[in-house]
Order: sequence, then structure tokens, then C-alpha cells
Amino acid sequence: MFATMGAFGLAPTAEAARREPAFQAPRRSDFTLKGRSAAKVVIVGGGIAGLAAAYELGKAGYDCTVLEARERTGGRNFTVRGGDSTTDTYGNRQTARFGGGQYMNAGPARIPQWMVTLDYCRELGVPIEVFTNVNANAYIFNEQSGMKAPVRHRTAKADVYGYVAELLAKATDTGALDRRITTEDQERLLEFLKDFGDIGDTLAYTGSSRRGYRIDPAAAGTPGEELGFVPTASEVFASGVGRYFSFEFEYDQAMLMFQPVGGMDRIPAALTRAIGERRIRTGAAVSRIDGTDHGVTVTYTRSGRTRTIEADYCIAALPPNILAKTSHNLGPAVQTALEACRPSSAGKIGLEYRSRWWETDHRIYGGITETDMDLAHVWYPSYGFHGERGVVIGYYNYGSQADSYAALTPREREARAVAQGVKIHGEKYRSELASSFSHHWRQTPYVEAAWHSMAGGPDAPVFAPLNQAAGRVYFAGDYLSHTDAWQHGAFTSARKAVTALHTRVLA
Ligand code: PHE
Repeated sequence: MFATMGAFGLAPTAEAARREPAFQAPRRSDFTLKGRSAAKVVIVGGGIAGLAAAYELGKAGYDCTVLEARERTGGRNFTVRGGDSTTDTYGNRQTARFGGGQYMNAGPARIPQWMVTLDYCRELGVPIEVFTNVNANAYIFNEQSGMKAPVRHRTAKADVYGYVAELLAKATDTGALDRRITTEDQERLLEFLKDFGDIGDTLAYTGSSRRGYRIDPAAAGTPGEELGFVPTASEVFASGVGRYFSFEFEYDQAMLMFQPVGGMDRIPAALTRAIGERRIRTGAAVSRIDGTDHGVTVTYTRSGRTRTIEADYCIAALPPNILAKTSHNLGPAVQTALEACRPSSAGKIGLEYRSRWWETDHRIYGGITETDMDLAHVWYPSYGFHGERGVVIGYYNYGSQADSYAALTPREREARAVAQGVKIHGEKYRSELASSFSHHWRQTPYVEAAWHSMAGGPDAPVFAPLNQAAGRVYFAGDYLSHTDAWQHGAFTSARKAVTALHTRVLA
């Protein structure tokens, strides 16, 4: 009966129990009948989680102060434009020399449609545009696997799907599936495979127009000429090109994807405006967080002077690896949990070119070239099409690949990235280069992580002390979400902390 009531919407369902209650932003009117008033909150960390917390609490009139160690808000949401400077933990100082209108998103750069990040863009009036995550015209180059030249994504896909379809069709045709599915279903499967792999009634893959053309079809008299030299099934499997096609099947990487027009940092810029600059102290590095019986005392250094700030509550929205190095009295279980958040590496280099040769010479308009080289991924810009210049992401890599580039000087990083990219794109990859800027998160002061590996996930018992308040201190960040390394994780985690804090204040 209970389930039936649930189906009629008269009782909570199991489905509803697993779902987070819809976020209800704190409102000023929440206080009117309760005889309570908004509290004072100090937020440590001006990344997306910290800004989102201040923004949401601000809606109900909370007196928020954000302390941000770096000179700008946004945290890992960092868009690099001409004139921007960084110094990494090795002491490498760089100033970007990108031309007007050119930028690279050094951190987050793509937003799936289902993530709340887009809701914040809508609410804050941040215009968005399509980000091309998968492009049939981009390349795959597995140098380590013995490929001699890059192939187009579409060509590799036609070959992989073609041969897989052929093999499965032949297995079906020779009775290998007789005990598994009915004859009728086998016929349906064959119909599907003929279409899926373009293998025709012979059930043999011999190439397909899907691979692309050597001479493109045009007017009558010019039927075009398909790409020749269809590799064998063995060659296709040995090249490893098949491993990239499931990428866009993932829930968080499927097209369409989006980006803010003009750079990802339009999001923190809009949040910063909405919160009010006067509530945000940049250049304020926190050295202590102390819970007291009635509040929280946070000690920080700004312009060489040490100061303290007292508040009713604190939201610790800084990276856990940084908080683990900060003095606090939040207890050993909190410290153990913080130390269990293992920082990961990732890096990017932006290569600014004098011409958009990837569009004119390669007909590539955005998207990603996939490789098994140390540069991992090459991203073509999803903005400024047909313009004069453009910034290509020459590497976006993680883990030891990122660390090996980070260990080099910026000049050496550029030289290595270009030498690798020339193998895919030819000499223009070198000759058209105007400037470059590289960025590595593990080596970025006050961040020191691209994201975190959380053994067992954020709900594992060891992290429990961070998923609740430690006295009057709440924790927030993408690391405390099931979408680590996405702004969605930072936003939803901040919302959770805000809800818990506000509920407590109202009680
Ligand atoms: N969100 C980041 C990106 O899209 C990091 C990430 C990569 C997260 C792959 C999940 C999967 O590049």
C-alpha cells in the first residue's frame, strides 16, 4: 500500500529517499517567524565552493567574509589572458603574451548539460556557447602503439565499428549465438550490424565512405574519391584507436557540452560581483582555524600583517591538502581524513598561433585529438572560429605525464610539446607559434592539486568527519562530492554545507 501511495505521490518513494532534496537557497524571510537572525560566517577559500557558499548565504543576509590566499578569486577556475602572471612552486615565473581576445582555460573548460554549473550561468547571466568535446575531423595518433601517421577520428571509428560488426555478424551467421538468442533476434542483430558497421549483405568490412574522402564529393562530374588503404582488422586492433570511442558515452563527457563565452572565469567573476567585492579579501593566506565554544577564530596574513577574524561559523572551502598543512583544533579524525585526500596532478599548455591553420589546412573546428603520447590530448579552440589567431591546448595531461612536463622550465615545456605536436600536425605547429603559457596545478601555490583521489569515494568512513560539521566548521569542495574535478561538485558540496548551516541557525 505504501508503494502504491508512493506511485500516486502520496508517500515518499525509495527513489526520492536517494535523491538529495531540491536545493532551497536561504531567504531573508526564513528568519521572520523564527526570532533568529543571520549569522556571521567566515569562508576560507575563494574558489567555486567558497564563492557559491557566500553567494547563497548572502541571499538570506548572512554576514559573510571570504578569505582567499591568491590575488584573484575562482580557485582552479582560472582563465589565462595576455598580461596574466603566475609563479609556480618551483619558482618559474610566466607572463602570458596572448593577443587580445585570446585565452586558455587552465582549469575547468567544459560543462555537461546536466550539471548545476549551467544553472548558475543562467542565474548569474553568464552567456554560454557550445564546447566541442568530440570532433570526427580531429585526429588520433598512437605513436607508442606503432602508428606512423595520425588518422581522423571518423576514419578510425569506421574501421573499428566495421570490423567489430563483421566479426559479430560472422559469429552470428555461423551459429555461435544459437544458444543465446532466437533466430529472429539474430536476424535483428544482423540488420543492426549491417548498418552499424556499414558491412553490407556480404557481412564483410571493406571500407566505407564513412572513413572520409581523399577528394571530397562536389558538383556533377566530381563524385569524390574515398580514402584508400583500408587497414586490416589486426592492424586496427593493434593501433589501439578503439579505446577513444567510449569517451563520449560517459555521463560527464557526452556532447553537447558548453563553455562560458569569453572564458570560464566569467563564472567566478559573476559570483564575486554578486557577493560584493567588499566581502572578499584576496591575498589573505589562512594560517589557523580554531573552533571555540561560541564561534570560530581564523588567523590569516595579509600584506605582511597577521590578523584574526571572529565569526559564528566557518566554511572551510580550501583544498584538503592545503587545510591538512594549516594549524587547527578540529581534531585528529579531521586531520586523518584531510590527509587521506590524495592530490592529483594535471597540466596544460596554451600555444598561441598566428594563424588558425587547423581550420584552414586540416578542417578542424574545435574538438580534441587523442594520443598515447606524453601530451595525451590536444584541444582546438571552440571559440574565435575563422579569426586571425587562436590558442591550441598543446597538452592536457594528468599524473606522471603532467609531472614530467611540470619539472621542465616553461621554455622546455613548450619545446617538448611542440616537438610532439609537429608529428601530428606538421611544421606549422612550430613555424606559426606566437607564444605559449603552461600551467600545472600540483605546482600552483595555495592549490597544489588538480583534483583529489578519495579512496572508496567521498562517502567512505574515513571521510565522515568532513561530511559533517566539526563544531562550527563546515567543509566544502568538489573533493567532497561524487563529481570530483567538476565545478558541479564544488557547487553541490557548497549547497550541502549552506543547507546544514542554515538549518542549524534556524533551529
Ligand atoms: N573535469 C575534468 C575534465 O573534464 C577532469 C575530468 C576528466 C573528470 C575526465 C572526469 C573525467 O577534463
